[in-house]
Amino acid sequence: MNLKEQVGYKAVEFVKDGMIVGLGTGSTVFYFIHAIAEKIKKGLNVKLVSTSLQSIELAKSLGLHVEDLENVSKIDLTVDGVDEIDKNFNAIKGGGAALFREKIVADISKHIVWIYDESKDVEQLGAFNLPVEILPFGHTHTIRKLACLGLNPILRYKDGKVLVTDNGNYIVDLNLNVGFDVYEVKEKLSTVVGVVEHGLFLNMCKHCIKGTKDGAIIIENNTI
Ligand code: 5RP
Repeated sequence: MNLKEQVGYKAVEFVKDGMIVGLGTGSTVFYFIHAIAEKIKKGLNVKLVSTSLQSIELAKSLGLHVEDLENVSKIDLTVDGVDEIDKNFNAIKGGGAALFREKIVADISKHIVWIYDESKDVEQLGAFNLPVEILPFGHTHTIRKLACLGLNPILRYKDGKVLVTDNGNYIVDLNLNVGFDVYEVKEKLSTVVGVVEHGLFLNMCKHCIKGTKDGAIIIENNTI
């Protein structure tokens, strides 16, 4: 089992009968979706919602039904990945361009579990560029404003074209210094018209499952 597979399968231990479960996005959550599909086939009774079209497609390909987010009144548990995480449970997410849906699903989830391999564990955030979702309308101006604030935005492309998110928006990746002040950057972003959401997820998870060569380690966040 590779480390992503290890934590994806470990996370399913948090899933209980009757729950509404949020499916995150990415190559680590890929294994969680496979793991939950196996449990559902063996009789586990849960409702699923998703943070991306990619995860909906994967779940459907495994024979699972995914509820529209508008049709649920709560989410009991969400399992998602991270791009970087520090000791204070602050994370950068959005490498897979799903940060807006990941943020709204996280915001309404009672319990969040992040799963990742040990390479994501960092002393300080910032080696990974911070993804920010912006509206296409006026994006040249939004990007200029971000640049004026010293945030070094880079418009994200995929296959030679500007990447378009599941919400029809664009992503810019902010090239910040390692150890940047997460609260200062969050505050600056709140002043920019055209920013839909950013990939700073600060102290939101109750549990982390870190994949290491010696096995999966569950870390509890006692501050929330
Ligand atoms: C997608 C995300 C992912 O959770 C994050 O990029 C981690 O992905 P992976 O497990 O493939 O490394 O935030 O927007």
